[in-house]
Amino acid sequence: MIERTLVLVKPDGVQRGLVGEVISRIERCGLKIIGLKMVYADEKTAGEHYADDEAWMKSTGEKAIANALKEGRPVKETALEIGKRVRRALIAFISMSPTVAIAVEGHRAVPKIRSLIGDTNPQNAAPGTIRGDFTIDSYYLSDNSGRPIQNIVHASGTKDEGLREINVWFNENELHPYKRIEEDLIYRRANEV
Ligand code: CMP
Repeated sequence: MIERTLVLVKPDGVQRGLVGEVISRIERCGLKIIGLKMVYADEKTAGEHYADDEAWMKSTGEKAIANALKEGRPVKETALEIGKRVRRALIAFISMSPTVAIAVEGHRAVPKIRSLIGDTNPQNAAPGTIRGDFTIDSYYLSDNSGRPIQNIVHASGTKDEGLREINVWFNENELHPYKRIEEDLIYRRANEV
């Protein structure tokens, strides 16, 4: 169950000087960083990362609608329209200044990283998580100013997404498998890996 996942410190995180904070949280929990670089993403990389995927756009729009209705705000677009608009804004946002890309490996790395970063909507992110500790952004604020939610980091949502996204940001020769000192302690039997 060793998984690979991609973490991005997005332009808001880089500009706010939170790169070290994010790296430190990944390292100290025991996950292994196997790739790390700063990238000024071009439109191609940004467009591949936020892929033209109707299912993703619909589900992003549905979450936004559910949140707006919960907050008593009117909804004027369909889920797909919202998803398409959010995707366009994300591509522009992530290519506006440098991003730090981090390839991470470890047992159940995907859900572990998701729990470290917290809810997509920082307003709901628990204290102790990256989004909970470092921003008060929300659907409401981002909708009001017509920009993506600035939630500092991106992390892959599934194991398959992790492999796909690492491929978007890294070449194979930029990934560096090695052994961390505690692996002999934590992975005692082959079936735990
Ligand atoms: P990320 O983890 O990079 O994945 C998709 C991003 O879309 C998410 O973080 C948010 O920054 C952004 N996002 C998702 N839904 C919305 C929305 N309704 N309005 C603005 N931005 C959004």
